[in-house]
Amino acid sequence: MRSLRWRLVLAMVVVAWLSVATVGFISATVTAARFDAYLRHPRGMRPMPGMPQMMAQMMGTPERQLLADVRRTIWLAALAGVVVAAVVGTLTARQITAPLRRLADAAVRIGGGDLGPEVPVDRDDEIGELARTFNTMAGDLRRAEEARRRLITDIAHELGTPLAVLQANVEGMLDGVVEQSPERLASLHAQIQVLTRLVRDLRDLSLAQQGRLPLDRRPMDLSALVREVVELTQPLAEEKRVVLTVTGNGAVSVVADRDRIAQVVQNLLANALRYTGSGGRVAVGARVEGAAAVVEVTDSGPGIPEEELPRLFDRFHRVDRSRTRATGGAGLGLAIVRHLVEAHGGRVWVRSRVGEGSTFGFALPLG
Ligand SMILES: Nc1ncnc2c1ncn2[C@@H]1O[C@H](COP(=O)(O)OP(=O)(O)OP(=O)(O)O)[C@@H](O)[C@H]1O
Ligand SMILES: [Mg+2]
Repeated sequence: MRSLRWRLVLAMVVVAWLSVATVGFISATVTAARFDAYLRHPRGMRPMPGMPQMMAQMMGTPERQLLADVRRTIWLAALAGVVVAAVVGTLTARQITAPLRRLADAAVRIGGGDLGPEVPVDRDDEIGELARTFNTMAGDLRRAEEARRRLITDIAHELGTPLAVLQANVEGMLDGVVEQSPERLASLHAQIQVLTRLVRDLRDLSLAQQGRLPLDRRPMDLSALVREVVELTQPLAEEKRVVLTVTGNGAVSVVADRDRIAQVVQNLLANALRYTGSGGRVAVGARVEGAAAVVEVTDSGPGIPEEELPRLFDRFHRVDRSRTRATGGAGLGLAIVRHLVEAHGGRVWVRSRVGEGSTFGFALPLG
């Protein structure tokens, strides 16, 4: 018998049968012995030699009938107990197994890809607890599935836009409708660079999320790295007419992957320059704070609304979500920053207020 329901019913019937049978057996034995003793020594009479034998012979049909009735009643009670146990057992077992069956059905449904409605939770016991845990798990799966779908849509869109531009231009050139000027080729080359960077960012992000991004950690000076990155970024800042300065000059030692931390600082600086209008200011510096090495990039840009701050480091999250946005990239930069810093055992943060600029920072353990 493999069904839990029938095993529960059987267990209840067996328990009922055994308890009534035990009670019946003991009371039948005791009743018979007591009755026998009573017949041998009737109340109020002193036992006399030969009297028990005489009384036994005197025990007539009514007494034997009474004894037989008592026994029969006990066995009838046993039978009634078993029937009641079977009925109550079936009802109780159904109550226990019905929610389990619902959970099993829901698990099969989820396995088939249907992450639909939750299993109803209408009890407070262990089965209710199981149903709640099950619903939490289903909710997590649902969110993961939604994130996966959104990710695919976002990737398709981000790859699609530069590809469409490339395709239209190259087709135009092949048909002789579009002129093959050096400027046009340069702009197509820029689109190819966007695609290359996007694919590289997606690969980095995916590796970092799986904890598989190889890190070549060595002792290094974070201050020197910040100065180097600023030097490389200076031409871009001048082009955008943004004043880019370095703050602090003391050495800040950490043990980190130099290229990856440079990527983090570059990403933060690129954002600061991209979102700060001409005439703005960007300052960056490394310093020691307690047991941590801290780098902060502060800009005089437009600032970020408070409700956007918690999701800023999520992948593909942009404050300006419109597809026709004039500024901004894929929305991968800050997600990569967060993963790279966390892979080094550090943390990231942002402080910002609309109209007052933003400060993006990260901390690494001191080396
Ligand atoms: N310094 C900043 N000032 C104002 N808004 C910012 C700043 N840095 C980031 N943001 C906002 O945060 C969003 C996410 O930044 P993130 O670097 O992840 O993506 P992105 O710059 O749009 O694209 P990518 O970095 O992939 O090219 C940006 O789209 C922008 O809306
Ligand atoms: Mg960015």
